[in-house]
Amino acid sequence: MSEGNKPSIEEILATCRRLDQGRKSGARPAESPQPKAEISSPAAPELAAAEAAQPVKESQPQPAAVERRPASQMSVEEVLAAARRKPGQAAATGGAQKPAEAKAAPAKTGAQMSVEEVLAAARRGAAAAKPAESPAAKAPQKTAAAAAEAKPAAPERKTVPVPADTASILAAARAAAKPGPISKAEAAARAKAAPAEPAKPKALSMPERPAYLQPRPKPEPAGPSRRSFFGALVGVIFGSSLAVGFASLFVTNLLWLLGLARFMFPNILTEPPTVFKVGYPDDYAPGQVETRFVAQFGVWIVRYEYQGQPQIFALRTVCTHLGCTPNWLEAEQKFKCPCHGSGFYKDGINFEGPAPRPLERYAIRIAEDGQLEVDKSRRFQEELGQWKDPASFVPV
Ligand code: FES
Repeated sequence: MSEGNKPSIEEILATCRRLDQGRKSGARPAESPQPKAEISSPAAPELAAAEAAQPVKESQPQPAAVERRPASQMSVEEVLAAARRKPGQAAATGGAQKPAEAKAAPAKTGAQMSVEEVLAAARRGAAAAKPAESPAAKAPQKTAAAAAEAKPAAPERKTVPVPADTASILAAARAAAKPGPISKAEAAARAKAAPAEPAKPKALSMPERPAYLQPRPKPEPAGPSRRSFFGALVGVIFGSSLAVGFASLFVTNLLWLLGLARFMFPNILTEPPTVFKVGYPDDYAPGQVETRFVAQFGVWIVRYEYQGQPQIFALRTVCTHLGCTPNWLEAEQKFKCPCHGSGFYKDGINFEGPAPRPLERYAIRIAEDGQLEVDKSRRFQEELGQWKDPASFVPV
């Protein structure tokens, strides 16, 4: 016997079998006019499978009509019919309804009953049969209706479909997922058959900071900033009259400093020396006018004769008109001034043009080394009679 004097499934089935065996053997008096029938109802294996798969449940409230007739006086068919009949149907028919009438009602198959209903019906039948068969029947009979009255109503449970036969149970068991490793073909087939993965929930983001927690921008300083100060300074220096004045002062001071530096150094005489040597007297042929010293010393060296006396003298290359430099024309044997056309003979006497007087001579002498030495610091003029001075020529 299970806990709380509630019959177990095995006890219910054993009771049914004993009743059936006793009826076949004739030990039981022929009280019941009902014909003998086999227990092998189509719902029997389903009932056994459901009992094996499901745990023992609490007994459902049993109607009073089922309790009035003891189970020992009922046949197996009546017990199963009573077990299959819903408690609500029994209550609706009233307590005076007989088991025969209940049998006439449409029976519900085992496949259409829930597990709780099958167990409740089986327990009702077992509870009704026990008082006459087992010693426990002497104990006060406790019906399912009384238990339902003593206990609060159990919440309605979900109906579980019972498989129709063993083949369907095995098929359902084989349909489960195959454990262990699988082949590549099976994996590909499962990947194709598998539905698309549901979209992953978005990552939770931090809530937005309220306005009073947002960083506030720094206020601009009231006074001029450093950048504006330097900008204004640059503008004043390079873009105003004051800047122009400062720049002019700077340039003036710079030039003054450069002049002071030049004053601190002595002047360098760039003019050629006034006394210089022009070679030996034999280097000059009679009637020759040497022009190679014109550019450097501004003098012609001439070997010619003046008043019938051959001599070597040095003529100054400056026109006596306005100071231009005449050219020696070898073909014409004369000096010709390019400025106004004054002409001078080989001895320096003017004969054409505006020149008012002959060319001038420099002092010349024979130096200690025998060379001709010209001294430009002394000049001799013909109109003054100075060409007769022996310092103005070297006789040859
Ligand atoms: Fe020589 Fe006038 S300067 S002719």
